[in-house]
Amino acid sequence: MFKHILVPVDGSEHAGRAVDIAGDLAQRYGAKVTLLHVLTQAGGYQVPSELLAFEKIEHLRITEHDLIEGAGQEILTKAEQRARNHGAADCATLLESGDPAGHVVQTANGQNVDLIVMGRRGLGDLGGLLLGSVSHKVSQAVDCCCLTVK
Ligand SMILES: Nc1ncnc2c1ncn2[C@@H]1O[C@H](COP(=O)(O)OP(=O)(O)OP(=O)(O)O)[C@@H](O)[C@H]1O
Ligand SMILES: [Mg+2]
Repeated sequence: MFKHILVPVDGSEHAGRAVDIAGDLAQRYGAKVTLLHVLTQAGGYQVPSELLAFEKIEHLRITEHDLIEGAGQEILTKAEQRARNHGAADCATLLESGDPAGHVVQTANGQNVDLIVMGRRGLGDLGGLLLGSVSHKVSQAVDCCCLTVK
């Protein structure tokens, strides 16, 4: 039924639960999973300790852009591991920058995605809302099925 599942991840536990469910569905349907992270200006990134250690050892000046990109890559690496642990055998990762909802919709339309699994909320702290701005925009704009995970 589903052949290509897109999972947008922001490093939040909501997105982590979406990855678990997507991994399980991928195993059941023999589907491919694409994990997408979109780098944003909003920040909140945790720079991977390996990168900080590398900078120290090699006496390198690493730019802010490198650090943010490394942190984004780390979010994807962890999500891929989690998806594989939950049964996804065919995983790809994609790192973009700009508007998260725009990239999710563009990737879904451009890569024959038939299911999006994403968190209802993310890293934002507006506690009372059911949906965040990204999940709200995506679920309104895409043509394929979209599962939002609590
Ligand atoms: N930068 C991003 N890259 C990829 N996926 C994202 C990104 N931001 C959010 N998402 C996806 O959207 C889901 C919902 O997050 P969203 O940002 O809409 O909620 P929020 O952070 O609680 O609210 P807001 O950002 O509007 O303050 C996340 O669980 C994740 O699946
Ligand atoms: Mg957010």
